[in-house]
Amino acid sequence: MHTKHLELEQVGIDFPTPKGPFTALQDVNLKIAKGEFVSLIGHSGCGKSTVLNIVAGLHQATTGGVILDGAEVKQPGPERAVVFQNHSLLPWLSVYKNVELAVKSTMRGKSKGEMRDWIMHNLELVHMTHALDKLPNEISGGMKQRVGIARALAMEPKVLLMDEPFGALDALTRAHLQDSLMEIHADLGNTVIMITHDVDEAVLLSDRIVMMNNGPAATIGEILDIELPRPRNRLALADNKQYNHYRHEVLTFLYDKQKKVETVPSRTKHSASQKNSKSNEVSSEKKDTKKSDAA
Ligand SMILES: Nc1ncnc2c1ncn2[C@@H]1O[C@H](COP(=O)(O)OP(=O)(O)O)[C@@H](O)[C@H]1O
Ligand SMILES: [Mg+2]
Repeated sequence: MHTKHLELEQVGIDFPTPKGPFTALQDVNLKIAKGEFVSLIGHSGCGKSTVLNIVAGLHQATTGGVILDGAEVKQPGPERAVVFQNHSLLPWLSVYKNVELAVKSTMRGKSKGEMRDWIMHNLELVHMTHALDKLPNEISGGMKQRVGIARALAMEPKVLLMDEPFGALDALTRAHLQDSLMEIHADLGNTVIMITHDVDEAVLLSDRIVMMNNGPAATIGEILDIELPRPRNRLALADNKQYNHYRHEVLTFLYDKQKKVETVPSRTKHSASQKNSKSNEVSSEKKDTKKSDAA
C-alpha cells in the first residue's frame, strides 16, 4: 500500500557494554510513505531514540538497514533533519544566525538575497520573525523549539525527525506548537517521524502511530492508522468518538499490554535518579490524560 519512500528493513542494533553486547532493537520493519506523519510511542528505554538515530544516520544498524528513496542511509545528511527535545541551538548565535548556519551548508551557490528570503520564510512558518536578533537564552523554551524547527525545515529535508520535540514544554505552549506543526505539515508535506510520550499528541498529529514493545530486543508491537480528517481541531476532537477510541487503543497498549513494572532503584545514586525521572514521565502522562478527559 505504501510507496517505497522510507523503509526500515530488519533493523537491529547491538550496543557494546561491559557485560557483552546489548541487543536494543531487533527486526524493526516499517515502510513510510512520502508526506506521512508517523509517531513512535513506547515506554522509556524501549528504543525509540535508537530507531530515530538510525534513520538519522547517527547510529549504524547492526543488522538490516534504512533506505530512503532507493539509497541506503549510511551517515547523517541534510535530507534527514533532526529536532531534539533540547533545541541544540548555538548559544552565541542569534535566532537568525542559527538558521543561517544550517542554510549555508545546504544552499551553496545562492545569492545573499535569496538566502535571506529563505531564512525569513522559514522563521515566518514558525512565527519567529519578531526575534531575529535575540540569542537563544533570551527567548522562551517554546520559542527555542520553534527556531529548532525552522532550522530543520530550512534544510528542506525529505524527512523531519523529531525526538520528543515538545516534551520539555508546558501544556499550553505544547498545544500551540502542535498546531503550528500541523499547519506546516499541511503546507510542506514533509515526511515526519516524531517520538512522543503524549498519547493525545500522537493521535492529534499522526497518520499512523507505531507502538513499540519494551526491550531488550524491542520491536514494533502494533501500528494504529489514524483516519481522522484534516485539518484537525483539538477542541472538536475532544469529544469525538473515533478520537477517543484511538486514544484508548494507545493507552491499552502502553498500560495493559506493555505494562512496565518499575523496579526498585539499585546500585548507584545515578541510576536511582534515572528511575525516578522515568516514573515521573509515566505519571505526568496519566495526569495529562485525566485533565483532557475532564476538558
Ligand atoms: N550508546 C548506547 N550504549 C549502550 N546502550 C544504549 C546506548 N544507547 C541506548 N542504549 C540502550 O538502548 C535502549 C534503548 O534506548 P533509547 O533508544 O534511548 O530508548 P527511548 O528513546 O525509547 O527511551 C535502552 O536500554 C538504552 O539503555
Ligand atoms: Mg528517547
